[in-house]
Amino acid sequence: MRFQSLTTALAVGVSAHLAQAAGLHDAAVAKGLLYFGTATDNPELTNTAYVTQLNNTGDFGQITPGNSQKWDTTEPSQNQFSFTKGDIVADLADANGQKLRCHNLVWHQQLPNWVSSGSWTNETLTAVLKNHITNVVKHYKGRCYAWDVVNEALADDGSYRDSIWYKTIGEAYIPIAFAAAAAADPDVKLYYNDYSIEWGGSKSTGAQNIVKLIQSYGGKIDGVGLQAHFTVGQTPARKDLASNLKAFTDLGVEVAYTEVDVRMQTPATEANLQQQSTEFANIPSSTSTASTRVKAYYQCGGMNYQGGTECEEGLTCKKWNPYYSQCIQA
Ligand SMILES: *[C@@H]1O[C@H](CO)[C@@H](O)[C@H](O)[C@H]1NC(C)=O
Ligand SMILES: *[C@@H]1O[C@H](CO)[C@@H](O)[C@H](O)[C@H]1NC(C)=O
Repeated sequence: MRFQSLTTALAVGVSAHLAQAAGLHDAAVAKGLLYFGTATDNPELTNTAYVTQLNNTGDFGQITPGNSQKWDTTEPSQNQFSFTKGDIVADLADANGQKLRCHNLVWHQQLPNWVSSGSWTNETLTAVLKNHITNVVKHYKGRCYAWDVVNEALADDGSYRDSIWYKTIGEAYIPIAFAAAAAADPDVKLYYNDYSIEWGGSKSTGAQNIVKLIQSYGGKIDGVGLQAHFTVGQTPARKDLASNLKAFTDLGVEVAYTEVDVRMQTPATEANLQQQSTEFANIPSSTSTASTRVKAYYQCGGMNYQGGTECEEGLTCKKWNPYYSQCIQA
């Protein structure tokens, strides 16, 4: 999927009873999380009111460029690298003291034509893959908290997506990509990121198998990003989300909800806002203490994936400003 709106990233471990006045990130850290963050990118950085909010590190301790580190931006022509746009977000993170989550190195979308329409052999495409990863990761060396090395490699049934990578290289493209990233920056955390792996099932099993595959090659994988694009009325039960997180952490990797939202049709109804609040609160924040901890963030309103989201006055959600897609639950 292609999510270009403001999305959120949330590491595990938030607990309940956050003070309403606390910033999102500060509240998350106070409860043992690493950060609360958001995606952003060049087009919205011209909006001063928006950037004022984005700069508020009490709310956002981490930012992710939504698009400007993707292949079509960073290597639009073969071996011609362009980091200008990605650097703008990296520089903003540096200036603000925010963690930078880097996204992404290998995906089946937003590939330039020279990659997607090229005629490749296993050997030539593997060389292209390694060259891209090496150059991009080296450019951002020391600046990223984590890289999403491979994004969305799985089909909905948990089998490998029939991408140019898989078709040409086979599943080996995944450990090859992780090894290239590890060689280019041994210190950055390396993540696999996907959606619909937030509950147990064949796709989550497929993602666990990707972790094992990389490990079986003797490679390094540090984390799994669970995108967590939920829909009001369909968010999985907390115990199912928690046991799924544990299945990943049992493999020795950390987990992060990287793009959390609980979307609904707008205009929102009171009933949907209430249900959305309940479902946000039910997203577990810790595998070990899931029964006693809840994530107390709340998304209000929203216009699906495109455009900004607005907080709406709701039963338990206070309107803070027009730029947040999340409020802290009262
Ligand atoms: C946002 O933060 C950056 C870096 O700290 C700063 O240069 C810029 O002026 C800030 N913008 C606003 C609108 O606060
Ligand atoms: C492509 O080459 C790699 C070695 O670089 C190998 O592991 C993989 O199995 C090959 N894939 C196919 C489809 O032959």
